[in-house]
Amino acid sequence: MRKKVSIVGAGNVGATCAHWIAAKELADVVLIDVVEGIPQGKALDLLEAMPIEKRDVNVAGSNDYAATANSDIVVITAGIPRKPGMSRDDLLHTNYKIMSDVVQKVVAQSPESILIIVSNPLDAMAQTAFRQAGFNRERVIGMAGVLDSARFRTFIAAELNVSVENVTAFVLGGHGDTMVPLARYSTVAGIPITELIAPDRLAALVQRTRDGGAEIVKYLKTGSAYYAPSSATVEMVEAILKDKKKILPCAAYLEGEYGIKGYYIGVPCKLGAAGLEKIIEIKLTDEEDAALKKSAAAVKELCAVIGV
Ligand code: LAC
Repeated sequence: MRKKVSIVGAGNVGATCAHWIAAKELADVVLIDVVEGIPQGKALDLLEAMPIEKRDVNVAGSNDYAATANSDIVVITAGIPRKPGMSRDDLLHTNYKIMSDVVQKVVAQSPESILIIVSNPLDAMAQTAFRQAGFNRERVIGMAGVLDSARFRTFIAAELNVSVENVTAFVLGGHGDTMVPLARYSTVAGIPITELIAPDRLAALVQRTRDGGAEIVKYLKTGSAYYAPSSATVEMVEAILKDKKKILPCAAYLEGEYGIKGYYIGVPCKLGAAGLEKIIEIKLTDEEDAALKKSAAAVKELCAVIGV
């Protein structure tokens, strides 16, 4: 039997997730949205591309959560996106209400599913979903590190004029202004980038990574990024569905790892069939550790505002 992935929110991120999942023939897809007609229309349109793409997956859209029943994975993208000048944190109250409502409905239909949270402010929304779902932490994971790392990799590859395939990078911490791009653990064909890029240039690439979401919002004006965010989400979906045991930076609920307890924050995670199978603890320098703690403090502050 084919796997089933439901996506809540048929906006740009949700619909583009559906697109990547179908294009990679990973699973049947159900798109859910409150707006009538949008999930149905986008799903049917995508389904009609399948004969051309030679992919045997079903893609359906609905306004009714019953259609999501017994999903293996539910990706939650629902919420309002940023407008120019807004921070991810400005979305807190509105998206908290949306997330709480959505998770309740999702869990009622798919009590065994794994949730991947994409809505912003990411870490606080993952925490909201975790509390609301009552699942163990293995089954509620936030998407941010893969996206932030992909941006960092893009900028490193362009700087050195090398293949993106040669570049690995790690961005830890919250998905916000305090994120922690780890230059020391970022490499080109195994060579640490600190040996290849001068410190001032590297600092500029790190800053551009931190501002990566805002850079796109500034161009688009009416919304935020969606190609890279959805590609990042689907890398996580694929790692779980195929039980790849892939190490990816994800937002996970920490229970003392990295000296942080009771909060979602971006750390290296092993993703497989059980969801979050392991949190990898790497040694940080004092400076990196301080940056991660500062990022966790920012997440904690947001969580306090909404009481999660
Ligand atoms: C970004 C938004 C989606 O980073 O958080 O593009």
